[in-house]
Amino acid sequence: MGGGHVLFRLMTGTFGVACASGMALGAVLIQTVWGTEMAAIPPAAKREVDFIKDIQPLFKDHCYKCHGSSRQEGGLRLDRRDDALNGGDGGPVFAAGKSDESRLIKYVAAVDPDVVMPPEGDKLSDEQIGLLRAWIDQGAKWPKD
Ligand code: HEC
Repeated sequence: MGGGHVLFRLMTGTFGVACASGMALGAVLIQTVWGTEMAAIPPAAKREVDFIKDIQPLFKDHCYKCHGSSRQEGGLRLDRRDDALNGGDGGPVFAAGKSDESRLIKYVAAVDPDVVMPPEGDKLSDEQIGLLRAWIDQGAKWPKD
């Protein structure tokens, strides 16, 4: 009887330690993943961004080839306002005011190495990503016409 009791205490003790270290490990993992994601996205540009001057040429040079009038990869078209606002097969690709949660930004910043836009050729520079972020954070204003 007494022996069984000791064994029980031993087991619950070990279980408790295993649990605690599992939780600690989980917390470290979450911190690491979160930390990496945050670090991977370059900061937003500080200045005021203008869609026609700063953003449209960037889309044109780097995205229209696959997201323009002739091809709409992933169901996404970035050369027309209403199409761009609707997003692609996966829904909206940016949310005004929330650049860090916008898929468009995550993809150009290569947060997930498996989904990077553009998928071939040069990545966007930190400066270009900063402009896109600032544009989204400043309300993603896209003038009609
Ligand atoms: C060489 C072709 C090509 C270029 C250039 C390109 N993309 Fe893509 N894009 C794709 C393909 C293919 C998909 C769909 C497959 C996928 O999701 O991996 C896609 C999907 C996307 C999606 C997800 C659409 C959805 O709703 O699922 C976003 C956002 C996106 N691209 C943004 C961009 C941006 C921004 C640029 C320019 C900086 C760009 N892409 C340049 C080929 C391209």
